[in-house]
Amino acid sequence: MGAWCWWKHGVVYQIYPRSFMDASGDGVGDLEGIRRRLGHLSWLGVDAIWLSPCFPSPMADFGYDVSDYCDIDPLFGSLEDFDRLLRDAHARGIRVILDWVPNHTSDRHPWFLESRGGRDAPRRSWYVWRDPRPDGGPPNNWVSVFGGSAWEWDEATGQYYLHSFLREQPDLDWRCPEVEAAMHDVLRFWLDRGVDGFRIDVVHRIAKDPELRDNPPAPGGGPGYGGQLHIHDENHPDVHALLRRIRKLIDAYPERMTVGEVYIMDPAEVARYYGRGDELHLAFNFSFLRSPFEAAAFRREVERFEALLPEGAWPDVVLSNHDVPRHASRYDHPELGEPRARLAAALLLTLRGTPFLYYGEEIGMRNQAIAEDRMQDPLARTLHPALCRDGERTPMPWTSGPGAGFTTGDPWLPVGEPPPGGPVDRQRRDPTSLLHLYRRLLALRRRWPCLHAGSYRTLEAPEGVFAYERRAGGQRAVVALNFLDVPAEVELPVGSIAEGLSTRPGCPDPPAGGHHRLDAAEGVVLVEATARGAPSAP
Ligand code: NOJ
Repeated sequence: MGAWCWWKHGVVYQIYPRSFMDASGDGVGDLEGIRRRLGHLSWLGVDAIWLSPCFPSPMADFGYDVSDYCDIDPLFGSLEDFDRLLRDAHARGIRVILDWVPNHTSDRHPWFLESRGGRDAPRRSWYVWRDPRPDGGPPNNWVSVFGGSAWEWDEATGQYYLHSFLREQPDLDWRCPEVEAAMHDVLRFWLDRGVDGFRIDVVHRIAKDPELRDNPPAPGGGPGYGGQLHIHDENHPDVHALLRRIRKLIDAYPERMTVGEVYIMDPAEVARYYGRGDELHLAFNFSFLRSPFEAAAFRREVERFEALLPEGAWPDVVLSNHDVPRHASRYDHPELGEPRARLAAALLLTLRGTPFLYYGEEIGMRNQAIAEDRMQDPLARTLHPALCRDGERTPMPWTSGPGAGFTTGDPWLPVGEPPPGGPVDRQRRDPTSLLHLYRRLLALRRRWPCLHAGSYRTLEAPEGVFAYERRAGGQRAVVALNFLDVPAEVELPVGSIAEGLSTRPGCPDPPAGGHHRLDAAEGVVLVEATARGAPSAP
């Protein structure tokens, strides 16, 4: 598929398989459903899809509790369905990234069943088993991200096992060489089948303090995960050696990649996961997930990450995923909800870095309110209903009417209210829709190397406006985004503008350069080009 470095310059679309498209009619999305909707993804113009886990799983954490890493859960189809999806995606030039969950398995995984069989079971050392403290309590003070102690007592063998998440998700012990070898085999299994890369779940957790020392309290203390400084249960320095070996394995296959979920609040630590170009290809930068809708906040985060990245490392841009409320909801506003979603699209697709687009954001999906008695996410039970992640995982509305074109059955989560612009089919018919704006931005980005490969520089702009330029060869793109609820005056380039757009619906392209009045929550993108800097063929 050519020398273009797809994972740097392309756009990745995250699919939550349960909610994208249900071909079988059982109310849960599946691989055949995704295959049937590849036309949507080609039309939109994305370069890759990342599938949240679709492996056999008891679904205690909806697939993030894997009971067999080398198969497909029957709910989603079969290995043959996967191969068909992979083949058809590749035929359309769309790469496929799988979600690899190395920190923990399901408690029903045969490895764990064997491990818990007895203290001298052959796979005992594959998981983290420890004796109780003299008072019978858990071996240390570590807490689960999902609430309560991170240790579960096993009556039969008289020891505790470690689980960073649910008790149904026991942590593997990556200090055991057989675990590392077995998990490497999993990667090879899928690479040999032709997958293009892996999103790596909570990769900063695979190495922990070998002495399992207590975490110190965080300033302010308190119970639960937030009450501790996580210096021993995650982000142990030994993680980097593990990553270098993973990278070596991946790089033995041409054009493959990894993107790691490094859920650490300190971006300096996240940046270290790139190593010297010998660890992760990409580390998720989640700083936008916490940013308020303010120009200064986005500018600060972009500049900070750009400054922290090691030489040659490539950033990425994330506004939404399956664990946080959708950004169209986070940025919602009584009158400016849609304009803000449109501005966010321009931001996502013009910053330096690989954009990760979460299914449904291209039509402005909002979080849906889920009644407590219909909540599925275990967090609603183990932590608090307010932390339930179902709202951002609801079925994709393709059409109006019952089932929303997602299912002919009873959907596993309610489809809920369509986004303001309507479902996919309506937005396809409306050239001014958010969906069309995403498509235009994707096409613009693909056509102009300055947008997909260029350097980044912040431009001076009035307060409330975030402006920057992207440069490559003889090309320059200027982006100005007005985060204010009122218009703002900006100076745009007056040179030879080759192409551009405004996020305002129905706005003529390109907007004129020079002194320009941006509407409330309007963004513009202008591409200047010299003769040298002609657009590239897609
Ligand atoms: C991070 C995943 O994104 C989340 O959905 C999951 O619950 C945890 N890891 C545990 O695997």
